[in-house]
Amino acid sequence: MNDSPHQPVLYKEIIHALQPRTGGRYVDGTLGAGGHARGILEASAPDGQLLGLDVDLQALEIARKTLAPYEHRIHLAQTSYTTLAAQLKDLEWDSVDGIVLDLGASSMQFDTPERGFSFMQDAPLDMRFGPHALQTAADIVNSYSERELADLIYEYGEERDSRKIARAIVNKRPLHTTRELVAVIEAVSPRRGDRVHPATRTFQALRIAVNDELASVKAVLPQAVAGLRSGGRLAVISFHSLEDRIVKEFFRSQSKDLVNPPYERIYEEERNAIIKEVNRKPILPSEEETENNPRARSAKLRIAEKI
Ligand SMILES: C[S@@+](CC[C@H](N)C(=O)[O-])C[C@H]1O[C@@H](n2cnc3c(N)ncnc32)[C@H](O)[C@@H]1O
Repeated sequence: MNDSPHQPVLYKEIIHALQPRTGGRYVDGTLGAGGHARGILEASAPDGQLLGLDVDLQALEIARKTLAPYEHRIHLAQTSYTTLAAQLKDLEWDSVDGIVLDLGASSMQFDTPERGFSFMQDAPLDMRFGPHALQTAADIVNSYSERELADLIYEYGEERDSRKIARAIVNKRPLHTTRELVAVIEAVSPRRGDRVHPATRTFQALRIAVNDELASVKAVLPQAVAGLRSGGRLAVISFHSLEDRIVKEFFRSQSKDLVNPPYERIYEEERNAIIKEVNRKPILPSEEETENNPRARSAKLRIAEKI
């Protein structure tokens, strides 16, 4: 069973995108509770194999239970998906049939107060997905300059009150807990009638920085495409516009044939298109899914197929 009360986000759409087949090889780079992985293993029975990665040991323990019925067909590792190429090499898998990346934090991580992801619960300011993260949210909040904090909150949180919030943090630090941080934000950035809590964007920004999320996404995409067999598919679910933009731009750039670039692109590297986008527009969750699982609201799925 999945640890969350919900099915994984865009579950049916992921299975449909990857079209798992008997004997196929698949990668779930963000294993979480193993919900998508279980679907892939079921659909590729009796002998499809799956490599599952997660940086979070707790997630791997849950996934191992979810995937117990398939234990002879799985290879799990506590590592970042940015090591994908090395993991495939270790398994001596030259190419795989499908790869899924369901980016960001899991329900389990949000719902475990002591991990510090939620501004609704009091906990130490941690926010690390796993031991690969070199600093906690507290380290950032208490050591960055006011300018660095403002830039981070603006860039990764798209927060228009970033300067006010950064100044308030610097005036009140050291801050150790989520509640202390929320109080500082609420004092300078009150609710504006929109439904979003004023701490949402600052918490998102800190989480992205702590886990170096955008650089990780940038690093994994070329490895994923390189690891696919011809006709194999990469499916990526993102949850905010910064991530989605990286995926979209990468897919566009790799699906353009630059062997005969237009004149103004003459200095771009010449190469053949290596993927095609399966859907021009991202796939969004159904109304039914977002009603049952509000966290699915901002999800966007993009799918590419290796040429
Ligand atoms: C949204 S959840 C995935 C849920 C999963 N699809 C399921 O069906 O339960 C994202 C997971 O990715 C993991 N994660 C985040 N960054 C990672 C990275 N760089 N490498 C590997 N896993 C990562 C998180 O720890 C989290 O467990």
